[in-house]
Amino acid sequence: MKVEEVVQKQEAWRSRCINLIASENVMSERAKRVYVNDFMHRYAEGKPGKRYYQGTKYADELEVYATELFTEVFGVKYVDVRPISGVTANFSAFFAMKRRGLLVNVGLSSGAHISHELGAKVLGFRTVSLPFDLESWNVDIDGARKTIRGEKPDFVVLGASLYLFPHPVKELSEEGIPIIHDSAHVLGLQLGTFPDPLKEGAVLVTASTHKTFPGPQGGVILSNDEGAFKEVYSTTFPFIVSNHHIHRLASLAVTLEEMKRYGEAYAKQTVKNAKALAEALYTRGWNVVAEALGFTETHQIAVDVRDKGGGKRVAEMLERANIILNKNLLPWDDNPKDPSGIRIGVQEMTRFGMKEGEMDYIAELMEKALRDPEGTREEVVAFRAEYQEVKYAVRTP
Ligand SMILES: Cc1ncc(COP(=O)(O)O)c(C=O)c1O
Repeated sequence: MKVEEVVQKQEAWRSRCINLIASENVMSERAKRVYVNDFMHRYAEGKPGKRYYQGTKYADELEVYATELFTEVFGVKYVDVRPISGVTANFSAFFAMKRRGLLVNVGLSSGAHISHELGAKVLGFRTVSLPFDLESWNVDIDGARKTIRGEKPDFVVLGASLYLFPHPVKELSEEGIPIIHDSAHVLGLQLGTFPDPLKEGAVLVTASTHKTFPGPQGGVILSNDEGAFKEVYSTTFPFIVSNHHIHRLASLAVTLEEMKRYGEAYAKQTVKNAKALAEALYTRGWNVVAEALGFTETHQIAVDVRDKGGGKRVAEMLERANIILNKNLLPWDDNPKDPSGIRIGVQEMTRFGMKEGEMDYIAELMEKALRDPEGTREEVVAFRAEYQEVKYAVRTP
């Protein structure tokens, strides 16, 4: 098997797919071009200006630039760009906050990420889940207050992998327990209408840099709290990373430049598209959750597909038609192997320039694909061929 062939096959295939995995995105041409660079061979342990290695003067320049741009674009005081993924950022934040070792999270079936639960347990935490309210499709605020008062955790983790409506950061921060908001999914949306968790009272925000924020795969931690940030910054290195994959910082900086200019428009269009796709599926009889709430305030929608054979079956059928999304647990599920739902994210297709009209057509294709996956594939490929240029980015010569 030739490596180049597999890479080429992957690129050809996914550029012919409607990509709806809520945790993925694409970089612009310019960000991709600077991704492969000499920094990928190098080490720069420590922090800019205070490294443990020689040969780092340009790594320092790049890291300082990316960090400063982050503070500017997100209007935040302190940024750690060294975590190499969202999980790494969470581990760094959790570890830095460790005292008695108890954390409260949203619960796996209500959307919490495995790092909030299983990952936290590996770090030695005991975890307790907050109650979830299906009517508001959100953390049950009164129940959460009771849990927090009863358990007195070291900190509360909000934010989720299945994340339709902003969690009540403001209300729960009034309990006086530090909140870490995991913005892995919604970082890019914070440039539009999604509320800034730090302004709402979170002490730390952790995130991936490649989901709604459309940069290279990586992680980041943001804070306005000097004390908490110092703890977390001195945890990331030396405890969580040694080399921090410096090469990705070039693409991160390019994406930040793009988002400084186009982030708001991209984020707003993404949420509009999610609502439009939800509506289009709902009117075709799909059981999209949270209809009474307008379906979503993020890039995601969730559909209960038990009437179509369950999440696994639907996701696999759609893949045969080149429509890529994932099966997902919904709050009432207790068997991770048989989720009742699918999760759909529209951020990548938004970045390729799709708007509300295209969302309607995607719903039609999904409907057809469940009847005749192979027969629909050609239509999907022809449709996707029209959307190959990454928007919300400076045009490349
Ligand atoms: C809420 C949340 N946090 C963290 C992560 C992990 O991010 P990464 O894959 O960058 O480690 C995910 C992944 O999808 C996520 O959904």
